[in-house]
Amino acid sequence: MAILKIARMGHPVLLQRAQPVADPTAAEIRRLVRDMLETMEDASAAGLAAPQVHVPLRLFVFRVGEGRTSGDADDRPVDKTVVINPEIAAVDDDVRLHWEGCLSIPGLRAAVPRHWRIRYHGVDIEGAAVGGEVTGFHAGVVQHEYDHLNGILYPMRMNDFRLFGFNEELARAEQQGAGGRS
Ligand code: NI
Repeated sequence: MAILKIARMGHPVLLQRAQPVADPTAAEIRRLVRDMLETMEDASAAGLAAPQVHVPLRLFVFRVGEGRTSGDADDRPVDKTVVINPEIAAVDDDVRLHWEGCLSIPGLRAAVPRHWRIRYHGVDIEGAAVGGEVTGFHAGVVQHEYDHLNGILYPMRMNDFRLFGFNEELARAEQQGAGGRS
């Protein structure tokens, strides 16, 4: 087990298109996934994509914590999950702002337009199918992690840079009722 080093914005690995995983059941993939899950846990993060740990392969891990769900029926808590060679599609045109951070952009968060409802699928380390139709936080985190596989970081999705700030400042503004987070 190991905590992996995370690439920060500016590192070229984060701007590359990642390559498909040839054998999702290979021992080195199992090892990578285990270390990524440990790294995500250690950082108290909701998701982590392989390019963020300097491995340009199409896989990511994520989880949906109890407190993060929108209350929507298709947005339930999800235990630590790996998605290898994912495909993703928006179900409709419903796009909403989703507050997100990224381990590669530490200390900051922003409201990013994301499809509310998506369908995605991939495989796990046994080669078994994972995914389905999801909404809310679950849909947002999957879109964020999937973007990493195509060299896209969340600021590249933003259209209102007023909704972008340091965690401490946004938390203070929120406490003072000055808005920032709805
Ligand atoms: Ni990220």
